[in-house]
Amino acid sequence: MPRRHPKKPPKDLDLSHHFRLLTEIETPFDPTALFSQQNPTELEIGTGKGMFLTSASSSTPERNFLGIEVSAGYARMAASRLAASSVTNGVVIHGDAMHLVRHGLPNASLSGLHVYFPDPWWKARHRKRRILNPEFLQHAGRILQTGSQFHIWTDVEEYFNEAVLVVNNTLLFGKASNESAGDLENKYRTHFERRSRLAGDPVWRAVFTRNEKPPQQNRLIAKLPHHFIASPHTTKVL
Ligand SMILES: C[S@@+](CC[C@H](N)C(=O)[O-])C[C@H]1O[C@@H](n2cnc3c(N)ncnc32)[C@H](O)[C@@H]1O
Repeated sequence: MPRRHPKKPPKDLDLSHHFRLLTEIETPFDPTALFSQQNPTELEIGTGKGMFLTSASSSTPERNFLGIEVSAGYARMAASRLAASSVTNGVVIHGDAMHLVRHGLPNASLSGLHVYFPDPWWKARHRKRRILNPEFLQHAGRILQTGSQFHIWTDVEEYFNEAVLVVNNTLLFGKASNESAGDLENKYRTHFERRSRLAGDPVWRAVFTRNEKPPQQNRLIAKLPHHFIASPHTTKVL
């Protein structure tokens, strides 16, 4: 289904506390420094319209929620939802998540990581653009603090299985648990979850907990065959 153009924020809405450009942030940086409270900070990759970021920051004021979104229009739209809900613990960065994890985030700088409905890049020649790739997942283990959670939800079973396999390969996480859908009060976690569930499509959800092992640079990339990302993987790991 094609995506509609994101709504432009009202001209008089001040986004200065909720919107940042990755190109204007000196890297590497402490993500908590983007917030007024020095609370544990969680990151959402591919924030889209900002449903998760807005509801999480409203319902969990004792934590900070940072989003990264590559589309300028969606990043502004998510920031405008945060601004409109007057939360002080939600910020969206406009930029590329791969650049952020490669160059922006120090070891153990995050208390949670969320990837909901990442773009599947169906065509074989585009597979290398998938965000849940071995390098990203190795960084996920590096930037997360021990005991913090990494959530992956998608409506693409093959992508899900591939990602779970690679996460397990990092040896930096405990075994995945199936994560249940939102409760009635918070019925949908994200806009795409809502869309999938209303259409009756299945959704695959996993949550991993970062273990105590220190990350070993390039271990995973060295172990995986070169063609890995390009080949569909159907191994059921859960
Ligand atoms: C399918 S949408 C899902 C949006 C939202 N997570 C949800 O579940 O409703 C994927 C989002 O990821 C964003 N995205 C894709 N690649 C990205 C990247 N490298 N860095 C940041 N955002 C990215 C897209 O612009 C899009 O908004």
